[in-house]
Amino acid sequence: MASSSLWTMEASKYFLRNCLLFSILSTIVIAQIAQRLSSPNPCTSKGKCYECIQTPGCAWCYDPNFGDGPRCFSPSLVYQQQKKCPEEFVNNPDNILSYLANAELTKARKGGFEGGGAAVTGAEGSYNYSESWWASGSEHGQSHGGAAGAAAGGRNIVQVKPQRLNLKLRARQSYSIQMFYTQAEDYPVDLYYLMDLSKSMYDDKEKLSYLGDSLASTMKKLTSNFRLGFGSFVDKVVMPYVSTLKEKLRRPCDICVAPYGFRHHMTLDKNTQLFSKMVKQANVSGNLDAPEGGFDAIMQATVCRHKIGWREHARRLLVFSTDASFHYAGDGKLGGIVKPNDGICHLSDDGFYTQSQYQDYPSIEQINLSVKKNSINVIFAVTKATIEIYEQLAKAIEGASVGKLEGDSSNIVTLIKEQYEQISSTVEMKHNASSAVSVKFFSKCLNESGALVPTNKCGNIKVGDVVSFKIDLEVLKCPKNRADHFQKIQIYPVGINESLIIDLEMLCECDCEQPGDKYYKERADKCSNMGTYKCGICECYPGALGPHCECLTDDLTSNSTISDCIRPDFPDDKECSGQGQCVCKKCICANERIYGKYCECDNDHCDRHDGKLCSGPDHGTCDCGVCHCRAEWEGPSCACVKSKATCYAPGDDKICSGHGRCECGVCKCEATADGSHSGKFCERCPTCTDKCIDFRDCVQCQQYHTGPHKKPEDCARNCSNFFTPSSADEIIVNEENNEILCAYYDEDECRFAYVYYFDNENKIQVRAQKERECPEKVYVPGIVLGVIAAIVLIGMAILLLWKLLTTIHDRREFARFEKEKMMAKWDTGENPIYKQATSTFKNPTYAGKG
Ligand SMILES: *[C@@H]1O[C@H](CO)[C@@H](O)[C@H](O)[C@H]1NC(C)=O
Ligand SMILES: *[C@@H]1O[C@H](CO)[C@@H](O)[C@H](O)[C@H]1NC(C)=O
Ligand SMILES: *[C@@H]1O[C@H](CO)[C@@H](O)[C@H](O)[C@H]1NC(C)=O
Ligand SMILES: *[C@@H]1O[C@H](CO)[C@@H](O)[C@H](O)[C@H]1NC(C)=O
Ligand SMILES: *[C@@H]1O[C@H](CO)[C@@H](O)[C@H](O)[C@H]1NC(C)=O
Ligand SMILES: *[C@@H]1O[C@H](CO)[C@@H](O)[C@H](O)[C@H]1NC(C)=O
Ligand SMILES: *[C@@H]1O[C@H](CO)[C@@H](O)[C@H](O)[C@H]1NC(C)=O
Ligand SMILES: *[C@@H]1O[C@H](CO)[C@@H](O)[C@H](O)[C@H]1NC(C)=O
Repeated sequence: MASSSLWTMEASKYFLRNCLLFSILSTIVIAQIAQRLSSPNPCTSKGKCYECIQTPGCAWCYDPNFGDGPRCFSPSLVYQQQKKCPEEFVNNPDNILSYLANAELTKARKGGFEGGGAAVTGAEGSYNYSESWWASGSEHGQSHGGAAGAAAGGRNIVQVKPQRLNLKLRARQSYSIQMFYTQAEDYPVDLYYLMDLSKSMYDDKEKLSYLGDSLASTMKKLTSNFRLGFGSFVDKVVMPYVSTLKEKLRRPCDICVAPYGFRHHMTLDKNTQLFSKMVKQANVSGNLDAPEGGFDAIMQATVCRHKIGWREHARRLLVFSTDASFHYAGDGKLGGIVKPNDGICHLSDDGFYTQSQYQDYPSIEQINLSVKKNSINVIFAVTKATIEIYEQLAKAIEGASVGKLEGDSSNIVTLIKEQYEQISSTVEMKHNASSAVSVKFFSKCLNESGALVPTNKCGNIKVGDVVSFKIDLEVLKCPKNRADHFQKIQIYPVGINESLIIDLEMLCECDCEQPGDKYYKERADKCSNMGTYKCGICECYPGALGPHCECLTDDLTSNSTISDCIRPDFPDDKECSGQGQCVCKKCICANERIYGKYCECDNDHCDRHDGKLCSGPDHGTCDCGVCHCRAEWEGPSCACVKSKATCYAPGDDKICSGHGRCECGVCKCEATADGSHSGKFCERCPTCTDKCIDFRDCVQCQQYHTGPHKKPEDCARNCSNFFTPSSADEIIVNEENNEILCAYYDEDECRFAYVYYFDNENKIQVRAQKERECPEKVYVPGIVLGVIAAIVLIGMAILLLWKLLTTIHDRREFARFEKEKMMAKWDTGENPIYKQATSTFKNPTYAGKG
């Protein structure tokens, strides 16, 4: 039953498919194939060399003799149908990394290090760091011996490694490089103290002039290579920031000097005593409004690199100390200044900012950029009243931090020391890649046993520690502009003028797409002189079409052209069965698995059996929707054996016992005069005799050692080529096997049952009950005697009872008689039965007796 319904299903599927394949369903089916085909291999749909190599895992074949098939392929996934591309014509560029500069990191010297904490490991200047997750193929050595200790000028100190790479990278392929950072000992520090010198800061200035030496000596403990500079600011000398009354301009208050925007007092210098002197010498000034012009000062102090004296390789700290908030871009309009800040150094020879009255304040973003560009760490040392606003500001400025200044700046030394330690113990990696390139940082920071986490920042770094970062680079999309395929990416630790420069070349194009290449030809013969031949294919000029530009667009618009691409037998179908494009009256199929004049064929749409196309390659092959079966198979899905051998019952020469058809190796029984037939060979019918009797004797002798062949030699002889019945406690008929139940009573009145069926090889199989079911034996003489005895006993009992009852009755009768006799009042001489012949009547009225 099951197989018959399967067959009908197969048949109907076949019918349906053939009828509807290219009608409405085709679109859905095609969408599914397209999806299935495209998911494992995204290459084939790429029609241009540059599209192909921008797809990971794809390679382009520019063999001029390749033909019209898809040229973009996946070298790791080669289809049978696919034409092989000669090795020398495969364009499959590799990512290439090369080191342009890879100087060793500067090692920390042996010995303790005050302030930053002792952090030098082991033997003289040696430390280990793991390159275990060095992800990409570099043969770069791991030893780091030999480099000299920190050089005094900071020029030879190397804190970032490698320094320059050249990377050729394909699109959408992630590439890992490793980068190391170490905090060198005695790294030079430049500290420029930028002070608000409005009148309220007078006491701060006084304090700072005393603390100057203390600041210098504290910083010298942190690094022996320390320089200090000093500058001050008030505000723009225009109304309304500053009173422009002539008198006020000259001397805004008693102790004040004329106001100014920004003044550079002292170039960064080793001579730190000079600092105290300069601070002491500086005079406060006065202005009107509360916010000060500090942004002008920050801008000048960062961009005037040479005037301020910033060294190229030094940690640059800009301490910005104030008790007021700040003016920023736009505020200048109040004073009639509309020219935006140009972010350029404008310092006069005597250190004054010359553009104060002509340019607006810089914006926060300008400050951010300038600070970043010059690798400066700004430390806002501000009083409690304004700390919140500066905290907000610091967030918007790269590498900035905020410390709380006491009202009189008395804590300035500890503040700077703390901020410096915090800044120098933290490394934060940044990059300037454009949005086309993704740069991701991973690090274990200092926890070698820990997991690699996505972070660009590590803290608690001490001198000599080496932090490694894994950097994943990926070209997300190829920029349209060819010049943008070459990018210089800078990866740098914030606040340090050292970086890793990556010269990135995005492999977004093929050479053979560029003029001058051997495989590039304009107006090529191969392209009917109507296109440019590039990398093996034609790029047609407007108006021309087709793989060889052999068609003109004017031809295409006529309806006859399209109709040439529609199957004549399915006039309503889409062009090229919806699986290709009609180009120049010819179908170009969507991919190489689809073929046929109208792209109507593929080798994926044949009938399946058990999920296998045409029941698998050993049964048949699929060709354009039809299974071609091998010799011994037939049926729509080649699932049926051709031979009818399996339809003959053993020992029977009629197919299906003459009561059915042999279909797909299985009997399909038919109804005949004696009812419908069933069974594996249609051998069963309501009126048919079954074969039970044939097996009875042998079952008996083999299973129970009874029956006509009871003797073992008989049994062995008559049932010799028989089978050994399997045994079971109880016989359960398995309908699926078409088992037939037989049951008999043998000479012992025992019932035994067995089933027989034909197994897959058409051999008779019998399962017999393990034990016969026999009635219990009875002892006949016992029963007879028992019955007789019972009858006698019952008879005697009845007699006795009768005797007893009569005796009791007699006794009772007699007793009554005795009693009556005693009670009788008649004369004993008178016979009670005797009647006198005369009758005497008494007259009741007669009174006396005579
Ligand atoms: C560095 O590693 C080597 C082996 O890889 C080991 O012999 C040496 O002791 C290590 N040095 C330190 C300072 O851990
Ligand atoms: C501060 O003022 C005093 C007196 O007015 C003057 O001598 C001195 O040069 C001023 N200092 C600076 C740095 O201009
Ligand atoms: C950083 O150092 C390089 C030399 O290594 C120098 O050319 C450049 O000007 C420095 N940048 C800054 C902002 O000092
Ligand atoms: C500051 O500049 C850095 C680097 O150019 C940038 O990543 C960051 O977004 C900027 N911050 C703000 C608030 O614009
Ligand atoms: C990144 O910075 C480097 C060095 O400053 C510069 O040459 C490069 O053009 C920058 N790259 C981008 C994409 O801005
Ligand atoms: C290092 O990482 C491991 C595993 O993540 C963690 O158990 C351990 O606490 C970390 N050690 C430190 C010092 O953070
Ligand atoms: C193409 O056929 C459509 C409808 O059958 C008709 O409207 C159109 O004019 C035909 N175009 C040409 C160029 O014959
Ligand atoms: C058993 O086999 C012998 C010889 O093969 C035969 O003569 C005899 O009739 C058989 N017995 C029965 C009961 O068929």
